[in-house]
Amino acid sequence: MKDINHICVAGAGAMGHQIALHAAACGFHVHCTDLSASALEQAGSFSRAWLEKQVQKQRMTRTQAEDISSRLVFTPDLESGAGKADLVIEAIVEKLEIKREFFARLDELCPAHAILATNSSYIVSSKIADATRRPEKVLNLHFFNPALVMKLVEVVKGPHVSDETIAAVMAVAERLKKKAVLVEKEIYGFVVNRFFSAITKEACYLLDQEVCSMEGIDTAVRNGLGHPLGPFELLDLTGIDLQYLVLMERYRETRDASDRPSPAIVERYSRNEYGRKTGKGFYDY
Ligand SMILES: NC(=O)c1ccc[n+]([C@@H]2O[C@H](COP(=O)([O-])OP(=O)(O)OC[C@H]3O[C@@H](n4cnc5c(N)ncnc54)[C@H](O)[C@@H]3O)[C@@H](O)[C@H]2O)c1
Repeated sequence: MKDINHICVAGAGAMGHQIALHAAACGFHVHCTDLSASALEQAGSFSRAWLEKQVQKQRMTRTQAEDISSRLVFTPDLESGAGKADLVIEAIVEKLEIKREFFARLDELCPAHAILATNSSYIVSSKIADATRRPEKVLNLHFFNPALVMKLVEVVKGPHVSDETIAAVMAVAERLKKKAVLVEKEIYGFVVNRFFSAITKEACYLLDQEVCSMEGIDTAVRNGLGHPLGPFELLDLTGIDLQYLVLMERYRETRDASDRPSPAIVERYSRNEYGRKTGKGFYDY
């Protein structure tokens, strides 16, 4: 397998812009693409501000910051990014049909050796891989929010994924200075999001039943379980829109009423209160 030097990150939203910046900081050449001009603009200004802060705090020299900047391009041009890519990390919207169409397009645009990874929170890559002619090179590589800070990545070995692909992606994770956990079988939510789902479901139930205020639930979980963030603080960080989409996809599949988003999620989703990214969610920012 060819060395991985060029990474194309598709999607410059909450996850993509930080995955792209982190990968450039770890020495990769990175193209980060998005359909939205404002997402690309925000990603560019975040990166410039973050690099400047690292220089001010003497965590890197100005030359190092300039080197990182020179390896990182935010562009709407998917063709040029995908055309050079040894690895694509897809971080676009969490909708299966859109991801399948996107992977079919990537398959056309990317070199034959390129590995196509999805950062999806819940969708297993076997639901996407057959949209391409290279299923053995399609897998889940799951980062955590904020991607510049969180150490973990989950690498998921679906039944269609080759050992060579897994080995190459585990090696990339090491170069990204991440702690990679290999998930040996596909399962909904992999490892971490199975815990996240269980906790947020319970938190929303307690809130909807008026058992405790959201501040009370967050305080209880932070102080009683030692979590750094309470479940509502975490939902505001990861995005209430994402949680709504994930639960609706799940509900469409299972038709189990207990998988439906709870009123606490639906109300905020319908008011476009997605959390930190919109300035309001469970809390105000
Ligand atoms: N938010 C989290 O905490 C988190 C954590 C881990 C994984 N994820 C996963 O990462 C992915 C992205 O999540 P996010 O929170 O960054 O979403 P987001 O909504 O913040 O960003 C998604 C970006 O993708 C762009 N986009 C949508 N369709 C596109 C297309 N066809 N081509 C190019 N760009 C497109 C949008 O313009 C947007 O900027 C999802 O699959 C999600 O499940 C999210």
